[in-house]
Amino acid sequence: MGSPEPLLLMRGIVKEFPGVRALDGVDLDVRPGEVHCLLGQNGAGKSTLIKVLAGAHQPDQGEIVFAGAPVRLAGPTAAMRAGIATIYQELDLVDGLSVAENVFLGHERARLGFTRRAEAERAARDLLARLGHGEIPPRREVGRLPAAGKQVVSMARALSHDARLIVMDEPSAALAHDEVANLFRIIRELTSAGVAVVYISHRLEEIREIGDRVTVLKDGRSVAGGLPAQTTSTDEIVSLMTGRDVEYVFPERPEPEDDRPEVLRVEDLTLPGAFEDVSLTVRAGEIVGLAGLVGSGRSEILETVYGARRPARGRVLIDGRPVRPGDTGAAVRRGMGMAPEERKSQALLMNESVAGNVSVAGLSRYASFGWLSRRRELADVRRQIEALDIRPPDPRRPVVTLSGGNQQKVVLARWLLDPDGLRLLILDEPTRGVDVGARAELYAVIRQLAGRGIGVLLVSSEVPEVLGLADRVLVVREGRVVHTGDARDLDEGSVLNMIMEGSAL
Ligand SMILES: Nc1ncnc2c1ncn2[C@@H]1O[C@H](COP(=O)(O)OP(=O)(O)OP(=O)(O)O)[C@@H](O)[C@H]1O
Ligand SMILES: [Mg+2]
Repeated sequence: MGSPEPLLLMRGIVKEFPGVRALDGVDLDVRPGEVHCLLGQNGAGKSTLIKVLAGAHQPDQGEIVFAGAPVRLAGPTAAMRAGIATIYQELDLVDGLSVAENVFLGHERARLGFTRRAEAERAARDLLARLGHGEIPPRREVGRLPAAGKQVVSMARALSHDARLIVMDEPSAALAHDEVANLFRIIRELTSAGVAVVYISHRLEEIREIGDRVTVLKDGRSVAGGLPAQTTSTDEIVSLMTGRDVEYVFPERPEPEDDRPEVLRVEDLTLPGAFEDVSLTVRAGEIVGLAGLVGSGRSEILETVYGARRPARGRVLIDGRPVRPGDTGAAVRRGMGMAPEERKSQALLMNESVAGNVSVAGLSRYASFGWLSRRRELADVRRQIEALDIRPPDPRRPVVTLSGGNQQKVVLARWLLDPDGLRLLILDEPTRGVDVGARAELYAVIRQLAGRGIGVLLVSSEVPEVLGLADRVLVVREGRVVHTGDARDLDEGSVLNMIMEGSAL
């Protein structure tokens, strides 16, 4: 028995950007009804490859055969017409339009008389319900949905095209545990109907769970194609990705010292509708992790501590002195730094250079010294680029041209550049989209910062990450802290139980 006829064949795909050969002869074959996982380090070329497939980039060389015939995907519409739908890493929704309008944006049916609004809304509601999210109102402005909601809308749009191939670029990055389970249910439904899925993720355990075969990219080339997802060992995959053996470990944790001064104290903080009576402390040198589902209030807690939201009640104290509530300027002056969850909209000036973005936080330090300081600034930025392995290592490159994971590193580099005045670093999903090798580097850097006496308060959807990195863990459920304890006394199962108890799973 031969292998089944491929649905998609990509051969020798080359794509160059000024100064970068992002794809250097990539091969990929995808069979009908399979989940084909695309793996590779940050900057390996995954997103570029799928943009070629989506018609968003034109390849410089190579051929694409889809459903048995050579195709030229001249633009996004051509790709959709051919039967290829794409869910991008940085979601391409229009915030000011409604859910239904986004679902049917640029749609064939819209042009063929699918114009009645009520009809579009009904169709959108059906698609959302099929995705297990019938509660999202089709008329709601997309900009007002949380990250997970936007993800669902993007997915609904992909489904609306009756595609034969759906490409998903890190779809789980913005999702909590239970939502990932829902995503996998949808993927299984699609594949059992013969639809093929190309799935990109940095979470290897997901590849095991949902994947059939794996293709590994490294530096714009496919270094392995079509490996079995279930049986290829993690060591093998990681060494293919990195070209070396990476230890996927957390930095060593110092013994807890209860006599260290409190950097942060939060007392009875309350933001109605989001969280209630939250109290916590972070000591100098301590890493405190919040575990909880998306929507549990964890991000809102961080944002309120940082002054981006104004609490109805309660206090935030830094070094024992209250900080003016609802005022990020005051928070920064008192030594708080924050790397927020949605880097594209909140954290980065996308068209600015890496250096420009990294030194935003340290501006005051460099501003008054003229050109001499600019040289020093550039040298500092170069050191951060090296420390975090930001690629390509060019401080003048616009951030918009970096891969997703490298953009995340730029957000962190900004705070690491100027840790002198920093007392508390707040991190919301610090490793989202960051590959396994670079994660280990980030963990080490975060622990180093703590080692200098900075307090760290972080949120991660990945429970093993919270348990591995934090000293103390707070479990948040429905806006309340339901458990506080030493990370060493907890395991993944017990935390997941506390997170989900009483939820609709
Ligand atoms: N529009 C662009 N202009 C210039 N360079 C680009 C552009 N888009 C991508 N690149 C470069 O191409 C390379 C591949 O990037 P790509 O986004 O495909 O990586 P990726 O594998 O998706 O990484 P990640 O896991 O971080 O998302 C990187 O070096 C990136 O900086
Ligand atoms: Mg990418």
